Amino acid sequence: MHTLTRSMILAVASAAVLAFAGPAGAQSPIVIKFSHVVAPNTPKGMAADKFKELAEKYTGGKVKVEVYPNSQLYKDKEELEALQLGAVQMLAPSISKFGPIGVREFEVFDLPYILPNLDALRKVTNGPIGEKLFKLLEPKGIIGLAYWDNGFKEMSANKKLIAPEDYKGLKFRIQSSKVLDAQFRALGAIPQVMAFSEVYQALQTGVVDGQENTPSNMYTQKMHEVQKYTTLTNHGYIGYAVIVNKAFWEGLPADIRTELNKAMKEATELNNSQSAKENQDALNAMKASGKTELITLTKDQDAAMRKAMAPVYNEVGNRVGKALIEEFVKTSGGGPN
Ligand code: LMR
Repeated sequence: MHTLTRSMILAVASAAVLAFAGPAGAQSPIVIKFSHVVAPNTPKGMAADKFKELAEKYTGGKVKVEVYPNSQLYKDKEELEALQLGAVQMLAPSISKFGPIGVREFEVFDLPYILPNLDALRKVTNGPIGEKLFKLLEPKGIIGLAYWDNGFKEMSANKKLIAPEDYKGLKFRIQSSKVLDAQFRALGAIPQVMAFSEVYQALQTGVVDGQENTPSNMYTQKMHEVQKYTTLTNHGYIGYAVIVNKAFWEGLPADIRTELNKAMKEATELNNSQSAKENQDALNAMKASGKTELITLTKDQDAAMRKAMAPVYNEVGNRVGKALIEEFVKTSGGGPN
């Protein structure tokens, strides 16, 4: 387990600054440390590796991208601190994890059923909302470069989750989003924020009873092996904001930045065209494993879930911003009903 204190992060950060500012020979490449928390064979893992390949190719080796998957360097909360301090240069955190650094507006994506499909998502991320949200990162010393998909979330537990009442009293692991907290409370469940790297063990030992995630994340972390039932609710979405340390990015030579932007654009297109298939493959593999039973809800059961979670929209209005929620719903065509 990587429990890093703030002083340890700072120590790495100052070493990184020294390395960057130190006397650079003509040959020494600019190093981009890209840290993430998921497995390499996931949408984010593959996109990060693709970015590395293209960035190194397009810059003719002037840039070296070091990808650190699986929370090898930092866990969820620490990686954001590390980026702000300059210990790493690039991350792709889940959009649901920006609340703790004071950018609550991203949590709008976590509202239940706000995104009916990926086309709706693109309208949001490729339009004014996507741009506006990235602007909110700049005062935090962060620049947003792209939105990468993972996919839609399913619910899992060792108990069949069909009606809202089935969630009552169960403990669910959540990402650090107050909207997700409100979502599980609306179901009468007990949400618990936990780093991604700790979820499998927490499920296995019964520290929590259930969780919500995409098939890709569930399968690559083996969560399906310790959850008897997976309900295909598709009630929410997990996607990423690819972000860089602002000072680092703005300090790069302009021609290098151009090549990196090109690499990012291509890695993004690839990721966003393949993420749905990657999640479907993971779901098929979960089914084939026989370790978790997949449950599909009827139309009425789905409607009952939507109704139970609908109050969340009002509850988080002040936190996330009522106008933003309205604009998002209008753009995506989603919402609980
Ligand atoms: C989670 O914490 O469940 C996800 O955000 C992990 C990820 O990066 O996909």
